[in-house]
Amino acid sequence: MQILRLLCLCLACLLPCGRVHGQGHLLDKPVTELCLNCICEAMSGCNATAICTNPEKGICGIFRITWAYWVDAGKLTIDGDQPDSEDAFINCANDPHCAANSVQNYMKKFNQDCNDDGEMDCHDYARIHRLGAYGCKGEMPYKYLSTFEDCIENYADQGFE
Ligand SMILES: *[C@@H]1O[C@H](CO)[C@@H](O)[C@H](O)[C@H]1NC(C)=O
Repeated sequence: MQILRLLCLCLACLLPCGRVHGQGHLLDKPVTELCLNCICEAMSGCNATAICTNPEKGICGIFRITWAYWVDAGKLTIDGDQPDSEDAFINCANDPHCAANSVQNYMKKFNQDCNDDGEMDCHDYARIHRLGAYGCKGEMPYKYLSTFEDCIENYADQGFE
């Protein structure tokens, strides 16, 4: 327990500590840091270089978040941005802290047991993140799934869960 808390602290330190603004409600955080880490590993190798891989759809940042995902997650913004300003989405998606909070909000909103195993856990979050809230029971891309599973297994081998 103690060591897990330490790990969380360390991971949290990797993220810039800018303040992130929601639209008037407190952020709940259903997703563990470990789980966030494995999702970004699968999406981008946790490469925090600010980038949009698809200029039209706007698939941006460490979690490869789309514009629609960002909207569903409550249009979080980095300091100084307004939710409806032109760059609000790109700036948030490319900021690891704002992006991670967007994932938290999205999961809080679309929480479901996608793999029908009777539990709501990181495996479900990984599906919801990659396939979307309404398609999360679908087929997972092989590379995404294997990178994600390897990451989870690697943590389990080290005694984390
Ligand atoms: C991160 O992504 C950038 C942009 O795609 C790339 O140039 C860089 O080599 C990547 N870094 C790593 C460690 O893969």
